[in-house]
Amino acid sequence: MNPLPMDAAKEAPAPQGALLPASGAGLVVVANRLPVSLEQSAGDGVRRWRRSPGGLVNALEPFLRTHRGAWVGWPGTAGPAGTPAHAWRHEELILYPVALSAEEVDGFYEGFSNATLWPLYHDVIMPPRYRRSWWDAYVHVNRRFAQATADISAPGATVWVQDYQLQLVPAMLRELRPDLRIGFFLHIPFPPVELFMQVPWRTQLVQGLLGADLIGFHRPGGARNFQWLARRLAGVRVERPVSEVGAEPGLLGVAEPESGRRVVKVGAFPISVDAADLDRLARRGDVQRRAEQIRAELGDPRKIILGVDRLDYTKGIDIRLRALHELLAEGRVSAESTTMVQIATPSRERVDHYLRMREDIERTVGRINGEFGRVGRPAVHYLHTSVGREELAALYCAADVMLVTPLRDGMNLVAKEYVACRADLRGALVLSEFAGAAAELTSAFQVNPYHLEEVKSGLEKALDISRAEAGRRMRDLRAQVLAHDVGHWARSFLTTLGDRTPVGEPAARTA
Ligand code: ADP
Ligand code: G6P
Repeated sequence: MNPLPMDAAKEAPAPQGALLPASGAGLVVVANRLPVSLEQSAGDGVRRWRRSPGGLVNALEPFLRTHRGAWVGWPGTAGPAGTPAHAWRHEELILYPVALSAEEVDGFYEGFSNATLWPLYHDVIMPPRYRRSWWDAYVHVNRRFAQATADISAPGATVWVQDYQLQLVPAMLRELRPDLRIGFFLHIPFPPVELFMQVPWRTQLVQGLLGADLIGFHRPGGARNFQWLARRLAGVRVERPVSEVGAEPGLLGVAEPESGRRVVKVGAFPISVDAADLDRLARRGDVQRRAEQIRAELGDPRKIILGVDRLDYTKGIDIRLRALHELLAEGRVSAESTTMVQIATPSRERVDHYLRMREDIERTVGRINGEFGRVGRPAVHYLHTSVGREELAALYCAADVMLVTPLRDGMNLVAKEYVACRADLRGALVLSEFAGAAAELTSAFQVNPYHLEEVKSGLEKALDISRAEAGRRMRDLRAQVLAHDVGHWARSFLTTLGDRTPVGEPAARTA
């Protein structure tokens, strides 16, 4: 494959220094990462700005840009360097950097966030580690984010706190700035109550989240688990349970010394992608030509299978490789006619679990290619890199089968991006039933990733699909994704957050 595709891992322009708006920001997103990160290349050691990895940034950045909001976050490298006393301007956004020292990155980011909470919230696929020093770092860094946000928010501003790294920020921020409207959204799954109860600091986490006016999850199940825990651990009253389908937010009554009672809403808000924008991108002539070129560079195989993920053990990359390996070995798929491409963005490379998983995956790719590849024609093309938007859209257009097999995933935007890019109504999606997206993408070939035979037969069916069936399934999938895009997600969250209808009275209906 062309090693230098259309816009491979495009560098982001360096943000410019800007003065803080005197009146403060009216809409503020607070996330662990800024949308651009300063990265040091392992090769030449040069520091460059790049777009930050992951679904959170890809979903939120276009929305916030159109609303000219502010973004508080970490610039992605340890140390005081690159931390001015003022904000940065990045295109239409104002960025407020929160610098983290090497010790803070170690304890807060790699430790408590990614070696305790991440595996715990993803069904303990890997054993979570509970270390007191990591918890202390988590509390300390959450306080720094809360203080930075309190400093830059305009009176009465709306603040939207994001994800598992910052679960203490809502309560800390409310204490500093009771005038703010505070929302919190969790981008990863919220675990079953039995698993959450493992955490030595479970009550503090629940109390941290209860500082928000609205707490959002992808799925109603997560919201219901949280309501149960809030009652059990923080003694709040469940005034309205989250409904089965999550159409209406649940209500919790939190006792407060001064006001008596504060209502916290809890609801399900499935995130999505900028579907119309991806649809436009994928229809572009240069993207279509690049898709053709990719097929040609791969040797014009009859079928191309694609995987696109952060290199994370939750994504089930090993499972899809094992499924392909067995199908090739059993002669059910031929390496002559079928090629797989796996693009894996480097992620959290200093965390043990990630290191081991990378070695494991690369060994499996080597084995498959050793057994089934030919000179110049590997069975699996594995790229340990991140690619730019246009290249990604071209890859989606070139792929006959998209394999998305996480063991657990809050949503999985890759599945929705693939669908948004297939205006030609071709291609087939194989999707794990443990991705949040499975609830909406019911016309995909859904598989249980713990059941290898089921993954194999799902892949086989997707490879053998007729043109008519592919069209029917893709039409259904696209109807769902185009109607429920990221704008819909953000608007429904912010409308629910902004709605101050007194509890007990029905909200005014809008047309
Ligand atoms: P997560 O947020 O856990 O990484 P998602 O599937 O929800 O998982 O989001 C991943 C986002 O990162 C998607 O927008 C996807 O396009 C992007 N992405 C994943 N892998 C790559 C890659 N190798 N190159 C470029 N973008 C990628
Ligand atoms: C997921 C998480 C985000 C995170 C992203 C990338 O999408 O939900 O909060 O930013 O992965 O992970 P990283 O550790 O590189 O920020």
